[in-house]
Amino acid sequence: MAMKVGVIGSGMMGAGIAQVSAAAGHQVVLTDVALDRAEKGKAGIEKLLARQVAKGTLEEAAAAATLARISPAGDTAGLADADFVIEAATENEGLKQKIFAGLTLAPHALLATNTSSISITMLGASTDRPDRFLGLHFFNPVPVMQLVEIIPGLATSDATRAAARDYIGTLGKTAIVSEDSPSFIVNRVLCPMLNEAIFALGEGVGSVVDIDTGLRLGANHPMGPLTLADFVGLDTLHAIMLVMQKATGDPKYRPAPLLSKYVEAGWFGRKSGRGFYDYSGEAPVPTR
Ligand code: CAA
Repeated sequence: MAMKVGVIGSGMMGAGIAQVSAAAGHQVVLTDVALDRAEKGKAGIEKLLARQVAKGTLEEAAAAATLARISPAGDTAGLADADFVIEAATENEGLKQKIFAGLTLAPHALLATNTSSISITMLGASTDRPDRFLGLHFFNPVPVMQLVEIIPGLATSDATRAAARDYIGTLGKTAIVSEDSPSFIVNRVLCPMLNEAIFALGEGVGSVVDIDTGLRLGANHPMGPLTLADFVGLDTLHAIMLVMQKATGDPKYRPAPLLSKYVEAGWFGRKSGRGFYDYSGEAPVPTR
């Protein structure tokens, strides 16, 4: 059944969630802190849909209908009658709690967070609806990646879990359920691997190209770990490692020193134009 879906945050993840929701027939309000940001998110979706039309993998009318279902907004007022609201803001506990505190939602509305690592139980407890709150973790690029992790918090009701599973079904994606444990299932395994590749780079074990080629051709990964780290965002990866380190107290999760340095430099990967590759030209150029 078509719903009204609210997406908070129009960056890479929020725009992707808005796109797949609208493509599934849901009405979407895509909000950000300013209208021009939300409009930029929608413009990015338009480009991706146009590319699919040009390739012949999507009908022009379907692309237009998807786009017409997405309404950008500069605040969250339009979420008052939404059925399902998904927060995909920056990976920062305080910021997410501030966003939740500022929401006025319908009593029946479900609220989800796309956090990659923060405790769902703790975030849920800061809302007015811990029973109707859960984690829904999408993967980047959202239109391509088949998986969504469902993470119930301690207070999440069975009805909320079931409704989340139904919604993911409407997107044609596969759901898995993870306990509310730091970084859940996929990032628990994936992020330490990316962090380890950065340790190896920092220690001079191999160059950017050799480390990436090694994992692509030696382990059949679609992208090398340094390319993937740049793609995920080095700031996000760093934040995830810090959450894991703090939550477990286990030093094996400490961010690689080179990762911390890159974040200090503002080299966040693809989105900032520079990470382990320089993205200012036609093709990415390795920097080490
Ligand atoms: N947005 C939308 N669609 C995209 C895209 C993007 N950013 N990038 C590629 N695509 C689409 C292409 O249009 C193409 O679609 P068609 O099949 O319809 O033509 C398809 O994906 C394949 O793309 P390409 O042929 O250009 O390139 P590829 O075969 O190398 O695939 C990839 C690209 C799908 C991104 C692949 O490299 C891949 O799977 N990489 C790993 C991605 C990954 O691990 N993501 C998880 C990151 S972790 C995370 O997100 C969680 C977190 O919390 C940190």
